[in-house]
Amino acid sequence: MGLIIAAALVKFYITTPIYYVNDKPHIGHAYTTVLADVLARYHRAMGEEVFFLTGTDEHGQKVQQAAQQRGLDPQAHCDEAFRRFVDLWSKLGISHDKFIRTTAPSHKAYVQARLSALHAQGDLYAAEYEGWYCVGCERFWTEKDVAGEVCPDCQRPVQRLVEKNWFFRMARHQEWLIQTLEANPRLVFPESRRNEVLGFLRQPLEDLCISRPKIRLSWGIELPFDRDYVTYVWFDALLNYLSAVEERPGTWPAALHLIGKDILMPHAIYWPIMLKAMGQGLFGTLLVHGWWLMNGRKMSKSLGNVADPQALMERCGPDAFRYYLMREMVLGQDSDFTDGGFLLRVNGDLANDLGNMLSRVVKFALKNLPSPLSGPAEPSGSEARRLRAQAQALPEQVFAWVRELRISQALEEIMELVRALNRYFESQSPWKAMKQDPPAAREAVLVAAETLRIALVLLESVMPGKSAEGIARLGAKHASGLEWGGASGGRGELAFEFSEGPALFPRLGDAPAVAAPPHAATVKPPAPPVAALTPLILRARIEAARLHPQADKLLHLDVHDGARVRSVCAGIRAFYKPEELAGRLIALVANLKPAKLRGLLSEGMLLAAEGAGGALELVDPGPGTPGEAFAAEGQPAPAGEITLEDFQRRALALGGGAVLMDGQLLVSPNGGKLRCGQPDGSKVR
Ligand code: MSP
Repeated sequence: MGLIIAAALVKFYITTPIYYVNDKPHIGHAYTTVLADVLARYHRAMGEEVFFLTGTDEHGQKVQQAAQQRGLDPQAHCDEAFRRFVDLWSKLGISHDKFIRTTAPSHKAYVQARLSALHAQGDLYAAEYEGWYCVGCERFWTEKDVAGEVCPDCQRPVQRLVEKNWFFRMARHQEWLIQTLEANPRLVFPESRRNEVLGFLRQPLEDLCISRPKIRLSWGIELPFDRDYVTYVWFDALLNYLSAVEERPGTWPAALHLIGKDILMPHAIYWPIMLKAMGQGLFGTLLVHGWWLMNGRKMSKSLGNVADPQALMERCGPDAFRYYLMREMVLGQDSDFTDGGFLLRVNGDLANDLGNMLSRVVKFALKNLPSPLSGPAEPSGSEARRLRAQAQALPEQVFAWVRELRISQALEEIMELVRALNRYFESQSPWKAMKQDPPAAREAVLVAAETLRIALVLLESVMPGKSAEGIARLGAKHASGLEWGGASGGRGELAFEFSEGPALFPRLGDAPAVAAPPHAATVKPPAPPVAALTPLILRARIEAARLHPQADKLLHLDVHDGARVRSVCAGIRAFYKPEELAGRLIALVANLKPAKLRGLLSEGMLLAAEGAGGALELVDPGPGTPGEAFAAEGQPAPAGEITLEDFQRRALALGGGAVLMDGQLLVSPNGGKLRCGQPDGSKVR
C-alpha cells in the first residue's frame, strides 16, 4: 500500500501472548495471533517500522507431566509440540518477525541475568510459605479462594503445602501502580478492563512467589542464586517480551501487548511492577480482548466444543477465516462462534458483496468493452462522484479505526463502501446502458473497478492472499496505492486490463467450496471432458521411499494403490526426506501411461500443491483404504490410460482448502476431499 509515510520512523512493537506449548491451537489462539498480524500489517502499510513477536511458553508442570506421560524428555516434547503453532501460523499467513520459545538458551540466560540483578538489589527474598496449591494451575491460593478445597479456576482439588520459596517484593509498588493506571488511560484498554484492575488493586497486594522447588518441579529456569529452585513459569514467560528484543535496541518500550481477558492480572499487575523494579520503561498499551464462545458456551476440551481453526480454514481458506475472526469480534466483548454466523459472514460479505461484484465487473468489461479499458479519473455522473468521495475518504477512516484498535469497525467501513458500490452498479445497470449510452456504461465499469481496487488494497492487511488475487484480476495500470486515480489526485486517467478467474470467494455450502451434497447444482465445465481422457485419482500409501540414484530432484517410491505396489518417481526430493514418507497416504494419478524416468519405471504421479516460491506440498486424501477413487460430479468415469499432456489439460487447483478439477470438487464416494494446507488458488500438479 502506498500511503502517507510518517516523517520520523515510528516504531511499533506488537506481541501476542506466548502460547502454552501443550495445547492444540484453537480459535482463541488463532484470533489473538491474526489480530496481531492484521495490526502489524496495517502499521507497516502506514509506513511504520514494525516488530511483531509471537511464540510458545514451554516451562512448567503441565509440560513436565505431558512429557513424562509420553516417556519423553521435556525438551524433546517441546521441540515437537511447538511446531503445531508454527505450522498453523504459516497456514494463516502470520507475518511475525520473531517466534520466541522460552526454552531457547538466550531467553533462559536473559531471565537468569534479570533474576540475579533483582536479587542483588534486594527485590527478592526467601520465606516459608504455607497455602493451598493447585497442581493443574501451578499456583497457590489463599484460604478464602478455595471454598470446598477446590481450585477456583479449574475446579480440581487443591493440596495443602508448606515450603520455602523466593518472593518478589511486589506489594511496595501498589500505590505507584494505581497512580500509573489512573494517569494513563491507554495503559490497559478497553477502559472496562482498566477499571477491573483498579478494582482489584483496592485490596492489599501480596508479594509474588517466583520460585518452585525442584523436588516438586524441575522443568523450569534454575534460579541463579539458589540451585534447588526453578523460576515460576509466569515470571519466566512475561520476560519474553524483553528478552526477544534484547538485541534490538530502541524496540522496547513501544509495545502493544495483545492478550485475552483471562490473563489480564499477570499482565496488568505483575508485569508493570517487574518492569518498574528492573528500571525499564512501561509498555504502551495492553489490549485485552474477550473470549470466543461456541454456541453461547465456553469452549472446553471436556465439552468437546472447541472450534478448530484448521477445520474452519479448510472450509473457506485462510483469508476468509481471518476476515471472519476480525469482523466478528468487537473489541472488549465476547464473541459467539456459530456455524450460521460463520456462513452468513463469509457468504454475505465476501462471496456476495465483494467477490460477486468483482466477477460481474470483470466479466461485463471483458465481454462488452475494449481491453485495456481507460477513461478519465474524474467521473461525470453525480452518483459516481458520491461513490468516489466515499472511497477517497475511506483510507483515513480505516486507519483511524485501526489506531483505535477497532478492526471490526474498520472492516464494517470498508464493506459499507462495497455495498454502496453494489447499489451504484445496480442503478447504473451498464448492461442496459450499453445500448443507448455506451460512455455511461464505460464510466460505471471504471468507477466500479477503481472503487473495488481501493477496497481491496485496504483489505490487504486482513486478507493478503485474496486481496492480491482480486487486485491482479483488475489489472490496474494507473495506480497501486490508495489514491483514486493514482497520485495525480484524481485528475489523471484510470486504466484497467481485466482478467477472469474462478470465484474469489466460492460460496460456502454450495459446491464446490465444501463437500457437495449429492444433488447440489454445480457449475458445468465449458466442454464436457471425454471419458478416455479423464484422470483416475486414487488414495494410495507410500510403502517405502529412497533417493533416485540417477536424478537429484527425484525420489523413488513404492506406492500401494490398493491392489498392488507400484514404482513411482516423484520430483519432491527438495521438500521431503525419504524417511518421513513411509506409511503416508497420498493422492495418486493412477492411469498415466507408465514412463521411465532416468532409468527407473514410474507408474503414476503424486498430487502436490505448489506454494509460495514453488515449494511443493503433498495432497492429503484423508484417512481410508488405498484404492478409493476421487472424482468430480458429472465427470465421466476414467476409461483407460492417459498421457501427461492429457492430464495437463485439466486445471487442478485448491479451492476451499481442497482440490478442484476444472472448478469442480474432487470427492470420494463417502464425501472425503483431497486436502492441502496451501492457500486457495494454488496450482496442483
Ligand atoms: N502462556 C500463557 C500466556 C503467557 S504470556 C506471557 C497463556 N497461554 S494460553 O495458551 O493458555 O493462552 C493464550 C491466549 O489465548 C490468552 O490470551 C487467552 O486469553 C487466549 N485464549 C484462550 N482461549 C480463548 C478463547 N476461547 N477465546 C479467545 N481467546 C482465548 O495463557
